[in-house]
Amino acid sequence: MKIVVTGAAGFLGRHLLPVLRMQYPNASLIGLSSQDYNLLDPTQVNKMFSEQPMDVLIHLAAYSGGIGANGKFPADFFYINNQLMALVFEAAAKHKIHKLIYTMGGCSYPAKARSPIDEGQMWDGYPQEESAGYSMAKKMGLVASRAYRQQHGLNSVVLVPGNMYGEYDNYRENESHVVPAMIRRYHEAKLAGVSQVTMWGSGAPQRDFVYASDVAAAIPYFIEHYNSSDPVNLSSGTITSIKTLAETVRQQVGYQGDIKWDTGKPDGQMVKIFDVNRLKSLGLSCPTSLQDGLRKTIAWFQTHYADWSDGLRL
Ligand SMILES: NC(=O)c1ccc[n+]([C@@H]2O[C@H](COP(=O)([O-])OP(=O)(O)OC[C@H]3O[C@@H](n4cnc5c(N)ncnc54)[C@H](OP(=O)(O)O)[C@@H]3O)[C@@H](O)[C@H]2O)c1
Repeated sequence: MKIVVTGAAGFLGRHLLPVLRMQYPNASLIGLSSQDYNLLDPTQVNKMFSEQPMDVLIHLAAYSGGIGANGKFPADFFYINNQLMALVFEAAAKHKIHKLIYTMGGCSYPAKARSPIDEGQMWDGYPQEESAGYSMAKKMGLVASRAYRQQHGLNSVVLVPGNMYGEYDNYRENESHVVPAMIRRYHEAKLAGVSQVTMWGSGAPQRDFVYASDVAAAIPYFIEHYNSSDPVNLSSGTITSIKTLAETVRQQVGYQGDIKWDTGKPDGQMVKIFDVNRLKSLGLSCPTSLQDGLRKTIAWFQTHYADWSDGLRL
């Protein structure tokens, strides 16, 4: 079996490669980055399929960013992610690969979805306006999955990881999500001896967080046993308030200062968590506790912070 992973040098890719190596010791495993093939270029996409004849493609390549970047460049997020998806589905069908695994994000659910958000709510409304260019482009992978299955018999699977955190995440100020942003802020406040850190909002909103290694560990099941275009949420199914998250990160980072909540700033959606019943029905789960996942993540971050090593994106 030959397995190719695009976006292999990214956050989830770096968690996935060791899992695949362990699970399939006799497989030929190729991890690719944009340096190998720029998948925005149809010629390069076809070159990848010709030069790397594969059984399974795990297509993680994507262009993502923070709210600021999404607000400034929504057309870029739409165009790039749409191309990365459409070109690969078309070529995968042409080259008759055995299985395509595609990941989209929980942000593609409707802004008004009711928590816990199950897969059945996917088409019940428009996503959050701020990142709709990105999230709608990613969501077109679901349409592609059905369309290419129906017309070409392409066996593709669409996975929906929730709010992932873990080693190899993006810690850059304008690009990071809440967990890496907090880790970096408290770590830098500790180093600078700052006595107080102010956070936006009340800290009351509730979210669920999933350790990236758990998401990676579930993927072999979908390579081997799942043959449907019905999406599957991959999340922990646990509920954590932003305040609890902040306190846990503060303690684990070793920051002794106070966290002040600026309640004049918006909270965003009060509850956004994912339903994991479909995942459970397959006998799967994302079991790492937030405490354990954060411990590993923060240890990695603190080890590599000073010299920006191991690909730390700061
Ligand atoms: N992070 C999350 O919380 C989250 C949540 C849900 C779903 N997802 C989805 O999971 C997948 C992986 O996410 P991630 O967080 O690992 O993303 P990431 O760290 O940004 O990695 C994405 C990778 O895509 C590659 N890429 C970008 N443009 C490319 C191009 N034109 N040609 C070839 N490769 C290109 C990049 O490779 P180079 O570095 O070599 O340029 C990058 O390493 C994505 O589909 C994302 O939408 C992520």
